[in-house]
Amino acid sequence: MCAVLLAIETSCDECSASIVTASVNAMFVKVLSNVVYSQVNLHQVYGGVVPEIASRNHLEMLPVVIDQALKQAQLNFSDLSAIAVTNQPGLIGALLVGVSTAKTMAYTLSIPLVLVNHLEGHLHSLFIEGQPHLKNLSAENFPMLVCLVSGGHTNLYLIKDHPPGALLSEKLSESRDDAAGEAFDKCAKLLGLPYPGGLHLDQAARQGNPRAYAFPMPLSGNTLDFSFSGLKTAVALKLKTENNLTENKVADYSASIQEAIVQTLLMKVKLGLHKTNAKALAFVGGVSANSRLRELVTTLNVPSFFPSPQYCTDNAAMIGAAGWFQYQRGEVLMGKAQLKANA
Ligand code: KG4
Ligand code: ZN
Repeated sequence: MCAVLLAIETSCDECSASIVTASVNAMFVKVLSNVVYSQVNLHQVYGGVVPEIASRNHLEMLPVVIDQALKQAQLNFSDLSAIAVTNQPGLIGALLVGVSTAKTMAYTLSIPLVLVNHLEGHLHSLFIEGQPHLKNLSAENFPMLVCLVSGGHTNLYLIKDHPPGALLSEKLSESRDDAAGEAFDKCAKLLGLPYPGGLHLDQAARQGNPRAYAFPMPLSGNTLDFSFSGLKTAVALKLKTENNLTENKVADYSASIQEAIVQTLLMKVKLGLHKTNAKALAFVGGVSANSRLRELVTTLNVPSFFPSPQYCTDNAAMIGAAGWFQYQRGEVLMGKAQLKANA
């Protein structure tokens, strides 16, 4: 009988629960259900995530979301082999709701608790079964260069082998300041686009000219590190010179900003591929849903992989995937040790 895990994700503004399973030596984890309740509507009026509102809403919604995940998988609590939960990094109050719920359930059911780093989750979104853009992924594609691009991080990893281990230890570089997603969100806000900015900027950019404005592509030297804080400043300064920001101009700004971010990501992954001789490339995290990034990656002469959009942005299935491999390696907490688990 294969192990069945309940996974919980509450690190930011998505409240999510998923049921996953896999056979012992599987390369991919099977998702039986993945319920995501997004708090976007609650935070939209403030133009960003309000931590206190996020944790209070997780408290209300998490039991409902867990119940739905079990129902969709047609399982009961007694069918669970272990519980995986995001314990870091993230909003502390939001994380605490997930961790407290998971440890109480694991202790009460007398099953193992698996603490999962949110970034391990994003990296393991590559090992979820049934994704069209990953159908050709095989052991041949390793070592693989992976660019994790989210609202809080822009990191490069060289994943040496499969089955995956603790992938975070394979980090090559990171952003020295803002993350790519943060750059999308802050620039979108400057343009008056709704929260969450990345998706809206991506959509507005489709009607715009990516060469309308030239924005800086920083750290273009030999480093694999990223930097995006200068872009937001350049956009803010340029917008000060505009007295009539028409819809067409917003589209041109969006396309030009997106181009600067995407070209910077491509410049760094090209350098990373050159430095590491990686056999393939993958993008994970919220920004990897970006349409221009997906379009331009096809121009690189290397096999490239993206998770499906529902596994790019925050979700519990990816926490289940990372948790499942940790569970197989015996990286679990049992009994009273579970009660000490913290965010
Ligand atoms: O991975 P994620 O859901 O949460 C974090 O762990 O941060 O990533 C959220 C980020 C946000 O900055 C959001 O604007 C960005 O991903 N994002 C996008 C797109 N969809 C989401 N950025 C650019 N284009 C998109 N289509
Ligand atoms: Zn995330």
